[in-house]
Amino acid sequence: MTLVSMSEMLGKAKKEKYAVPQFNIINMEFTQAIVEVSNEENSPVILGVGEPTIKYMGMEYVIAIANAAAKNSSIPITLHLDHGSSFEVVMQCIKAGFSSVMIDGSKYSFEKNIALTNKVVEAAHSVGVSVEAELGTIGGAEDNIFVNENDVILPSAEEAIEFWNHTNVDALAVAVGTAHGMYKIEPKIKFDVISKISNSIPVPLVLHGGSGVPEQDIQKAINCGISKINVNTENQVAFSNAVRQIINNNDDIQDSRLFLRVGRDAVKEMVRSKIRLFSSANKTDAIILNK
Ligand code: 13P
Repeated sequence: MTLVSMSEMLGKAKKEKYAVPQFNIINMEFTQAIVEVSNEENSPVILGVGEPTIKYMGMEYVIAIANAAAKNSSIPITLHLDHGSSFEVVMQCIKAGFSSVMIDGSKYSFEKNIALTNKVVEAAHSVGVSVEAELGTIGGAEDNIFVNENDVILPSAEEAIEFWNHTNVDALAVAVGTAHGMYKIEPKIKFDVISKISNSIPVPLVLHGGSGVPEQDIQKAINCGISKINVNTENQVAFSNAVRQIINNNDDIQDSRLFLRVGRDAVKEMVRSKIRLFSSANKTDAIILNK
């Protein structure tokens, strides 16, 4: 199977009220863990790649690993740029082979965000690549993005609806109270805003900062209209803890595969729990695959 855009998978998720997971990849082991479990659970999956990961892995490795994963899979897989910072970066990713991109214009004014998003939508849609945009600011730290608690901006439902009316994105990430990274105190999610936006516009909504959100809040967010949930930190923590434990307990390890395998298994367990929580297992039927 080849990499697909996320439009079909998210359209089905919105209609049937579940969420497609986006798990960020940083290397081969994360990709293998995520894709293997998604196949076992028969779940569509979005592989998120941030710009620091492109720098870390190299563009050719990102594309080669994602294509290898898709080739050996019977489920729809999207390779998606996470928090694309500029039109130029988005174009590099599309040219290299990404099947979906996020343009994060949330640092700009409402009008500039719309203009930038529209420029990306025009270019991406002309080659069948899906686009996610962001409105408002999501707190916390992720890769090269750090947003202080005091600088968090949560847009109103009306602003989000107006943003949608001026753009033609395939998915919209609206800041609704979650944050990137683990939480010191429980997040206060604006479920009323999610419901209002979801009932007013046809486009699927995305929840960033999926790590550490209580299970009941995840389920409520999905019921209110969230169709895609991004998870990164919890996989990173699972991998690091597992590797730390085996290395601390075995001074004489030389073959790196011994601890990489343990880390990979820990990510697999986390991915499986999220797929089940998001109810995306066995949801690959009737998704039109761009083979
Ligand atoms: P977490 O790291 O909090 O899971 O957030 C991931 C994310 O939103 C990626 O865009």
